[in-house]
Amino acid sequence: MKKISNRLLAVQTLTFIAAENGSLSSRLSGLGQKYPDANLALIREYTYGVCRWYQRLDFIANRLLQKPLRKKDSDVHCLILLGLYQLFHMRTPDHAAINETVGLTRMLKKDWARSLVNAVLRKAQRERETLELDLQADQCAQYSHPEWIIAALQKDWPESFQEILAQNNIQAPMTLRLNTTSGSRSDYIGRLQDAGIDARPGNISETAIILDSPVEVMLLPGFQDGHISVQDEASQFVATLLAPAPGSKVLDACAAPGGKTCAMLERVSGQLDMLALDNNEERLQRVSENLDRLKLKAKITCANAVDTESWWDGQPFDAILLDAPCSATGVIRRHPDIKLLRHAKDISRLNLLQQELLVALWPCLKKGGKLLYSTCSVLRAENEQQVSTFIEVTKDAKAIPTSHPLASNCSIGMQFLPGNDNLDGFYYALLEKY
Ligand SMILES: C[S@@+](CC[C@H](N)C(=O)[O-])C[C@H]1O[C@@H](n2cnc3c(N)ncnc32)[C@H](O)[C@@H]1O
Repeated sequence: MKKISNRLLAVQTLTFIAAENGSLSSRLSGLGQKYPDANLALIREYTYGVCRWYQRLDFIANRLLQKPLRKKDSDVHCLILLGLYQLFHMRTPDHAAINETVGLTRMLKKDWARSLVNAVLRKAQRERETLELDLQADQCAQYSHPEWIIAALQKDWPESFQEILAQNNIQAPMTLRLNTTSGSRSDYIGRLQDAGIDARPGNISETAIILDSPVEVMLLPGFQDGHISVQDEASQFVATLLAPAPGSKVLDACAAPGGKTCAMLERVSGQLDMLALDNNEERLQRVSENLDRLKLKAKITCANAVDTESWWDGQPFDAILLDAPCSATGVIRRHPDIKLLRHAKDISRLNLLQQELLVALWPCLKKGGKLLYSTCSVLRAENEQQVSTFIEVTKDAKAIPTSHPLASNCSIGMQFLPGNDNLDGFYYALLEKY
C-alpha cells in the first residue's frame, strides 16, 4: 500500500484553506475519514501552526522570494510557509526541515520548484535574526493578524488590543463540560487522574474542567456514555445565564453543532421542550449525534430562523437563545484559519443578519420571557451596538443587567476577552420582554 505523507496532506490542506474553500476543522475531519492511517495530530500541528503564524510567515516568504509565485503555484507557497514554520516555530532540526520540504516538491509534481524552495529556506536559516528584527516593523507580521482585525481591535479595545492579539496566538486549552447527572466535578477530575489526564476545575461554569494538555476525546472516561463533552467555558456559561426552568419551552435559534443546546438540556436533566433550529442541514446532523450520545431529546428543524412562518407553530417560547452567526473573532486561538477566511466586508453582512434575526425572533418570545443574544465575537459592532440598536426600536425589550468580575466593560451586556482566565472571547446580552 502507498505510504501517506503527512506533510503532503498538510500542504494540500493549507492550499485548500488559502483558497478559502472551507474551514480547517471540517477539512481535517474529512481527511481523518479518507486517510485513517494519517497522523492527524501532526497534520493538525502543521496546519494550525501555519495558519496561526500565517501573516508572519507570509511576510518572511515575500522577503525571500524574488518575485511572488503565480496563483496556480499556491501549493508551492504553502509548502514554503510550512518549511518556514518548522524553521521558526518547531523544534525540527534545520537540515531536516529544509530537506523534507524540498523533497515534497516532487510529490507536488513541481520539480521545477526544488531549487527555489531550497534557496528560500537556506536564506531564511542564514538570515533568521535580521528577518526577526525586520518583522517587528510590520504590524501584520509582528502580531500575525490581517490588517483589518488589528485595526478593528485597536478601535474597540484601545487599551487591551495588543493583549487580545497576543492571546489569539496562544493555543487554547481543551475544556470539557461535565454532565453532572453522571457524578460530581471532583469525582470526574479523579477519574481523569486515574486515566493519567491532569485537569482542574474552571472558574466561571460549574460544569467546566480544563485539561493541562489536549487528549483524543475517546480517551476521556465516559465520553461514549455521554458523561462529558468538549466545550469552552465561556460557551458553557450561556446555559448559566439563560437558565431556562425545567419544563419550559425553549428555542435555540442557531443551534448547530449543538454545544449550547446540550448544555441547556443537561443543566435540567433534559427537562426542556427544546427546539434546535439551524439553516445548515449538515451541521444539524452533528446536533443529532450530540443529543444521541448524551441521551438528550430536542426537536430539530432545518430552516432560516428569520423566516418564522416556515417553522414556528405560533406558540411563544419561554426562553430563546440567539447564538448569532458572527465574525468568530473571539475564538481565533481555537480557529486560527479565521485570519485567512474572514474579511472586513463580512462584518456589515453579518450585522444585517444579526439584526434581522433579533427582529424576527422577538415576536416568538412570551411576555416575561428572556432572549439571550450571544456571539463569539469581540467586535462591538456585532455585540453591544447590535443590542442597543435593537432595544432602541423595540418598545417591549429591555436589557437585564449582568456582570462578572472577569468581564470587560460594555455599555450593554457582558464581554469576556480571549485568553482571560482561559476563556474564549464571548459576548452575552440578556433581554426581557415586558
Ligand atoms: C455560532 S454558530 C452556532 C453554534 C451553536 N450555538 C453551538 O453552540 O454549537 C451559528 C449558527 O447559525 C447558523 N445560521 C446562520 N444563519 C442562520 C439563519 N438565517 N437561520 C438559522 N441558522 C442560521 C449557522 O449555520 C451556524 O450553525
